[in-house]
Amino acid sequence: MKIAHLKIPGNVFLAPMSNVTNLPFRLMCKKYGASMTYSEMISSDAVIYGNSKTMVRGISSEEDRPFGIQLFGNSTQVMKTAARKIEEMFSPDVIDINFGCPANILTKDGCGSALLQSPDKIHKIVKELTETLTTPVTAKIRILKDVEKTLEIARLIEKGGACAVTVHGRTRQQQYSGKADHSHVRRIKQELNIPVIANGDIVDELSAKEIFDYTGCDGVMIGRAAMGNPFLFKRISYYLMTGKELEYDEGTQRARDLREYFDLLEEHDLMHTVNIRAQAQWFTSGIRNGRHIRRNIATAKNIEEIIQSIQKISDRH
Ligand SMILES: Cc1cc2nc3c(=O)[nH]c(=O)nc-3n(C[C@H](O)[C@H](O)[C@H](O)COP(=O)(O)O)c2cc1C
Repeated sequence: MKIAHLKIPGNVFLAPMSNVTNLPFRLMCKKYGASMTYSEMISSDAVIYGNSKTMVRGISSEEDRPFGIQLFGNSTQVMKTAARKIEEMFSPDVIDINFGCPANILTKDGCGSALLQSPDKIHKIVKELTETLTTPVTAKIRILKDVEKTLEIARLIEKGGACAVTVHGRTRQQQYSGKADHSHVRRIKQELNIPVIANGDIVDELSAKEIFDYTGCDGVMIGRAAMGNPFLFKRISYYLMTGKELEYDEGTQRARDLREYFDLLEEHDLMHTVNIRAQAQWFTSGIRNGRHIRRNIATAKNIEEIIQSIQKISDRH
């Protein structure tokens, strides 16, 4: 598929996730077949103030391409300045605007999903960013209860010049509860001309296929199910290509992946930016003897001990 002039080598995307989708994790998802990945969301205010912790989120590398950097904010002017700075510093393939985050820390300042209350402002932000940047602009939204209202926002995003829209099938009020409703994305896809990407509750091969079939979307975007599980992209791409499920040993795979992830964090000097224990827990969720290993991780005194507990997973399998 294509986003503006950009050729995307497939249609399975990694969702932007704070504290998850750093460069090493994106590289692993890419290696396993993610067609495109997004950075953790970046505050436009923090970009303007040059907050170094924030700027780390923009770090990328050539193997990471195509990648998007996601920006949030609520002042068009500040977002424009921040987006230009991001374009100059990191040259992302896409700049995505966050109109979906329901976290109070964003919505109290009128950012993220709070903007869904103000369709005209969404239009203005998209339009002005599109006019200011040479980088294609995309947007990520949540649904509103009323399909027509969601559709209206999607139309304004397209009219503003965005090159693609991602739709998470939950309302702001739902946060992460309930099931994602993909009827909105189906309706949006019927009407818009830009690529439409469906997001929410895609957890495996079958759910990916079902959502493609039901919505007719151009791409699917995976969030939580990929946490600690970058290999999911290989499984899904394989299934979409062949109609068959890939056979593999989950424990061995997860252990190998966690070790590689730690190595990449070291290589890119990013170990200090993540909560090692939390990341290790994700990589061990859902595996045999996982509870025992997670207990060891929780009480480990240092990274060496965490690595030793993980090592035991692959020794056992
Ligand atoms: C830990 C975490 C962090 C997230 N951070 C972001 C973010 O920075 N930007 C964003 O647009 N959405 C963010 N999301 C939402 C996801 O991108 C995605 O829309 C949501 O999880 C639904 O997809 P899923 O059902 O595949 O997880 C985050 C979700 C989680 C669980």
